[in-house]
Formats: sequence, C-alpha cells, structure tokens
Amino acid sequence: MDLNGRTMLVTGGANGIGLALTRLLLGEGAGRILVVGRDQRRLDGLRAAYDGKVTPIRADLSRPGEVDRLVETVRDTAPDLSVLVNNAGVQTLTDFLDGDPARHVPALRDEIGTNFTAVVALTCGLLPLLRSQPAAMVVNVTSGLALAPKKSSPVYCATKAAVRAFTKGLRYQAEDAAPHLRVVEALPPLVDTDMTRGRGRGKIGAEDCARQIVAGMRAHATEIYVGKSRLLRAIQGLSPSLADRIMRNG
Ligand SMILES: NC(=O)c1ccc[n+]([C@@H]2O[C@H](COP(=O)([O-])OP(=O)(O)OC[C@H]3O[C@@H](n4cnc5c(N)ncnc54)[C@H](OP(=O)(O)O)[C@@H]3O)[C@@H](O)[C@H]2O)c1
Repeated sequence: MDLNGRTMLVTGGANGIGLALTRLLLGEGAGRILVVGRDQRRLDGLRAAYDGKVTPIRADLSRPGEVDRLVETVRDTAPDLSVLVNNAGVQTLTDFLDGDPARHVPALRDEIGTNFTAVVALTCGLLPLLRSQPAAMVVNVTSGLALAPKKSSPVYCATKAAVRAFTKGLRYQAEDAAPHLRVVEALPPLVDTDMTRGRGRGKIGAEDCARQIVAGMRAHATEIYVGKSRLLRAIQGLSPSLADRIMRNG
C-alpha cells in the first residue's frame, strides 16, 4: 500500500512502539499523523518536532466518553483519514491467588478498556470515514501473547487474543463488503519500551519493531509477525502445547 501523503491516526503514538511508528511513517512520507495519548508533555514535544505534520490529541482511551469525543474530533478535523493504527496499550501484572483478587478489578477494567473496548469503539466510530476513502487500512497491534498467554498477565493476554479475533472477523467482513479496506494485525515479540522496563530478555528495539510493521503494511500483509513472533506462530502450528509451554513463564 502506498502510504505517501496519507492522513493517519496512531494511538499511543508519542511513546514506545507508537512513537517509533510515528517517526518512521513521517520519515517515509505520511502527510499528517494524528497522535493520541494522555501525556500532554510528550504530545507537545512531538508537535514541536514535526510542526504541521503531527496533530496531537489528548484522550484517555480507558474512558468511553473520551473515545467517543475522539471519534467526533477526528470526523470533524480529518475527513481524509485513511490509516488507523490501534497501538496504545497497557499491561498489568496480576497474581490472582495472592491476597484479595477483587483489588485488581479497577486496573483490569482500565486495561480491558484501553486494550480492547477502545479498539472496537474507535474502529467502529471511524469505519465510515475509512470506508469512504479509495484505499484505507486499520492496523491493530496485538502481541505474540495473543497466540499463547503468559501466567503473569492473564487479562492483558486475553485482551490481545480478543483484538486478534476482532481483527480477523472484521477482515472477513471487509474482504466481502469493502475490499479497498485492509484490516491488519501486527504481533510484536518482546520489545524494549516502558512497558517491559526491568524485565524480559532478548528484546528488540522499538525502531526495529516499527520497521517490520511498516514493511508489512506496505507489502499488503494481513498478519505481521514481528521478530520471534514468526517463530512462535510456526511452533504453534506444529505443536500448540509446545508454544504454550514456551510462553507460560514469559
Ligand atoms: N513492549 C512489548 O514488549 C510489546 C510486545 C507486544 C505488543 N506490545 C503492544 O504494543 C503496543 C505499544 O506498547 P509499547 O511497548 O510501546 O508500550 P509503552 O511504551 O508503554 O507505550 C504505550 C502507549 O500507549 C499509550 N496509552 C496507554 N494507555 C493509554 C490510555 N488509557 N489512553 C491513551 N493512550 C494510552 C501511552 O500513551 P501515554 O503514556 O501518553 O498515555 C503510550 O504512548 C501496545 O498495544 C502493547 O500491548 C508491546
């Protein structure tokens, strides 16, 4: 897909993998990127660095009202939007068997809201706009953990598996009813960002991850397996239980 000159929206585009995507897409000729996040300082910094090319929009995606307001803002200010990248995400580490599990519920609601509900709501809200373009793309960033969960983040893994299923179902519908709309899933492996600070080994850099995602977008991939996620997918095809064992303590 030709990404040149396009108006795009990247959630979580001011930090981590999203920031690397924003920089790379701008470097490769994107027309304008609407960057969504909560951290005003990061958003302002990005606007200053890419004057005119970045439109920062502050929104907390864990809050349904803010997602609805975001949809309205985009409809009003970016009628030429043709690429939506649902990248924002959070991960809680949760031990349900240590103490009262009910104490985790508020954080888990936010996690489900940001990682899943907001992806569905934002996609639904912007789909009419995207469909109206001659060519458009939705890219949902899931994880290798969508294929096989780890024990330390059951809800995070569930949200990623849910987005994977949502993406696949939406892709089937687009293939039949709107073939000019591409629906893509990107599955990063462990990436060195704030999300994984202080844990994990063998991480790849956010720039490397972004490069592989953008290459997949250009190459019309429907599922972009980044780095070791490709190997995990292959192992899962041969032995789902081996894939589970590999990821269990990840
Ligand atoms: N790092 C990994 O190893 C890894 C592996 C597989 C998949 N992923 C996925 O890749 C995506 C990016 O993760 P990352 O590693 O780049 O994490 P990160 O460095 O922590 O960045 C997360 C981004 O999401 C935004 N965000 C989080 N909660 C938000 C909310 N409620 N409302 C609006 N924006 C919110 C953050 O913006 P603010 O801080 O400005 O709010 C930030 O820009 C996520 O979907 C993650 O699940 C990451």
